[in-house]
Order: sequence, then C-alpha cells, then structure tokens
Amino acid sequence: MMLIVLFGILFIVIFLFSSKTFSPIPYFPSQPVDIEKIIKALDLRNNQAVIDLGAGDGIVIFNAAQKAKTLNLNTKFFAVEINPILILILHLRRLFHLNKKNIKIINDDIFKMDFSPLTMKQFNNVTIYLYISPWYLEKTILNVKNQTCLPAGRYQKFSVVSYMYPIRSLKKNERFVQGKNKIYLY
Ligand SMILES: C[S@@+](CC[C@H](N)C(=O)[O-])C[C@H]1O[C@@H](n2cnc3c(N)ncnc32)[C@H](O)[C@@H]1O
Repeated sequence: MMLIVLFGILFIVIFLFSSKTFSPIPYFPSQPVDIEKIIKALDLRNNQAVIDLGAGDGIVIFNAAQKAKTLNLNTKFFAVEINPILILILHLRRLFHLNKKNIKIINDDIFKMDFSPLTMKQFNNVTIYLYISPWYLEKTILNVKNQTCLPAGRYQKFSVVSYMYPIRSLKKNERFVQGKNKIYLY
C-alpha cells in the first residue's frame, strides 16, 4: 500500500515537472555561487518592487529579502510561479523567513499575468528578475511591456536583470556582470 502511495506521489511530481502546462520552462535554480552578484545587480532600495518571473524554489527572492532585511530596507519581493509543487515550497519557505511580511508568492502565468493587483503605483522603483529559456524571454518581456500599470518613465528606476541569457529586444541598454554565468542588466 505504502509503495503504491509513494509511486503515486512520484508520478504526480514527475508529471508536474514535465507537463507543458505546469512547467513550460524547466526548473533550474540560479547558481548559488552567483547569488551575491545577482543581489547586487538587483540594486536593492526603499520603495522598490523586485519581481522574480518564474521564481522556482525562491533562491533569489529569499536571499535578496534577507539582504533587504539586513539593510533595513522596505523592498517588496514578488515570486511568480506556475508549478504547484514549487508554489508549495515557496509558501513553506516564506513562512519561516525573517522578512516574510515583504514577500508575496503569486501563482500565475508570466506570459499572461496582470501586474495591476501588485499595486505597482506604490513603488518608485521596479526590478524584474528573469532566469528563463531564451526563446521565452521575449514573450515574457512583451507581457511586461503590455502592462498599463507599468508605464515607462513613471518610475525613478525601472530595470530588468536576466541571468545567463541576453534579451535581444533590450540590447541597446545592455550591460553585464560576469559571474559563473553572465548577469545581464537593462
Ligand atoms: C530556470 S527556473 C528559474 C528559477 C528562479 N528564478 C531562479 O533563478 O532560481 C524557471 C522557473 O520558471 C517557472 N515557469 C515556467 N513557465 C512559467 C510560467 N508560464 N509562469 C510562471 N512560472 C513559470 C518554472 O516552473 C521554473 O521554476
């Protein structure tokens, strides 16, 4: 009986991680060795929203939120994820995080989600973090550009940080930091 339950759980986990609906982009966490550089690239400050589109297990969001807490910043962190197992992990990790009041977990699809419930108006700075396959980057950026609650020029600073993969449509404002992998800044 126990074996059947275990196989059932294993089957559900494999299904959720291989399903095109729940995991169109495979889950790979950002490299731990690059986390410090990534956090530096996020340029944490007050009245800033940091949005990880496809947050995985939250390695970036939780480490960055820890740093913000240490620096006494009110930065808000949004982890957007579609995979139910990763959503569960994100909620569990948030529960025990010292800066949990500034972390929000959002179960949504980064290609179509509406950013307005995040009440973007309260922020002066917005930073989007991405670590997704190159062929999905443009699709995600297009959704970001289509958000009426994210008007260009409203923010003191609006930036995009992309781990490992450059974003072709933002090329003219590109810089990068060399970690184990490149960290692109726009
Ligand atoms: C390469 S992982 C990156 C994880 C995390 N951002 C990090 O840097 O460690 C990409 C993540 O995007 C999630 N994902 C894929 N398609 C998605 C979609 N349409 N909407 C929301 N999340 C998605 C996957 O489940 C996966 O966790």
